[in-house]
Formats: sequence, C-alpha cells, structure tokens
Amino acid sequence: MPDKPIALDAYEALAEAFASVVDTKPHNAFYERPATLSLLPNVEGKRVLDAGCGPGVYSEWLIKRGADVFSVDASARMIELAKRRLNRTTGIRQADLCQPLTFLDNSSFDVVLSPLVMNYIEDWSNTFAEFHRVLRPEGYFVFSVSHPFFDYTYFKSDNYFKTELVGSEWRGFEPVRVYMPSFRRSLESTINPVMEAGFRLERILEPKPTQEFKEADPKGYEEVSRQPFFLCIRARK
Ligand SMILES: C[S@@+](CC[C@H](N)C(=O)[O-])C[C@H]1O[C@@H](n2cnc3c(N)ncnc32)[C@H](O)[C@@H]1O
Repeated sequence: MPDKPIALDAYEALAEAFASVVDTKPHNAFYERPATLSLLPNVEGKRVLDAGCGPGVYSEWLIKRGADVFSVDASARMIELAKRRLNRTTGIRQADLCQPLTFLDNSSFDVVLSPLVMNYIEDWSNTFAEFHRVLRPEGYFVFSVSHPFFDYTYFKSDNYFKTELVGSEWRGFEPVRVYMPSFRRSLESTINPVMEAGFRLERILEPKPTQEFKEADPKGYEEVSRQPFFLCIRARK
C-alpha cells in the first residue's frame, strides 16, 4: 500500500478552486454527475458511504434526499470544505481509501458511492474488499472513472494493457494549475476487479452530456457527444 495517496498534494492545492466550480463545471455538473446519480437506487432512509467526497457535492445531494451519509476523503482541505458545505462535523472523516476502513462496521451501509476517485488508486483489490465488507447483502456499489479509451488516447500510451501512472497539468480550474497524477488502465482492469471483489455487475454507463452542457459550453458538448470521457458502473453485493 502506498504511504500517501498519489493525488493528495494536487487535491490539497486544488480544493478551493474545485469546490468553487464543481456545481456548474459542465464536465461534472451536466455530464458525469447526472449519469452517476442515475445509477443510484432511491436513497431515502438509506445509509450511504460517499468514498472520496471532495467538497461534498454528492453528500449534499444524498442528504437532501433523506440518506444517512458518511463522507470520507484523503484531503484535509476537501474535508474542511465538505464540513462547511454540509454544515456538520460528524459523519465525515479524513481517510485514505487505500488503507483499511477500520472505523466502519461490517455490513453497515446500503450504498457505497465513489465518483471520480478510483483513478488515483493503483491496486483496487484492497479498496473494493473494504467496500464489499461494509456493504449489507444486496447493497449497491456505484462508482465512476475516467473512460479507459479516453485515457489510452489522451495519454498516448504505448501499451493499452498496462496499468500505468500518468499525469497532466489541469487547466480547467484557473487560476490554479496543478499537475494531476492518476492511473490509466484497460477496460478489463476496470471491470474485472468489481467481480473479483465479489460484486455482481449490474449496469455500465458511458454518459452523454445533458442539454444544460450544450447551453453552457457548445464546443465541449460537441466533443463529449462524440467520444467517451467517463465510465459509470453499478454493482451489487
Ligand atoms: C475528482 S475529485 C472527486 C470528488 C467527488 N467525488 C466529486 O465527484 O465531486 C477526487 C477526490 O478523490 C480524493 N482522493 C484521491 N485519492 C484518494 C484516496 N486514496 N483516498 C481518499 N480520497 C482520495 C481527492 O482528495 C478528491 O477529493
């Protein structure tokens, strides 16, 4: 297990800028998020783990719909922002998802939700084993990642089948610019760990942008209408 999450420094530097645009940034708000949320069951009265909560946008959505949410993120700044946004100090905790989640009981959640986080974790087996452990039987595991085909072309990899550390400078959160490291992997290395952890795969989405995306960013809309950027997955325990 790595000593420190690979993207921790980048997210510590980016936290405020990320939080200030995430509600309206088309790739998140009008593309990835509606698709990932569409995979969730009715969350009213359900206990949900928001794994890699960032500034708390998903947690807030869940709480508004009556879920009992526990939020976790590796970044102290993200946790501070999430506490502020959610107006709470309990049910939220700084933790590295590469490490055992010893503070969470077995079979204590109905849903584990992890949007746009797994790209920063190389070996998914330990993390998925923990998600499986904390979920009740029939519980939902919903997550999203950067699309393997997008990453393969964007990072100009010379070996599609290799899981490899890549990175690029993120300019979408100006004036803050960070070098964002992540792991690029093949489609089978994205899907098979889900089943290997004991989950049953239920649905895969390759999101399409919403009409709001078109209104906010017509050029970006054209681009994401023709090529995949994200992959959203729902599995059951
Ligand atoms: C792209 S942001 C997504 C935040 C949130 N899920 C959303 O979609 O709005 C990625 C988040 O993953 C967190 N993260 C990265 N590696 C992590 C790890 N090993 N353990 C816990 N959180 C991690 C980062 O701190 C960051 O908040």
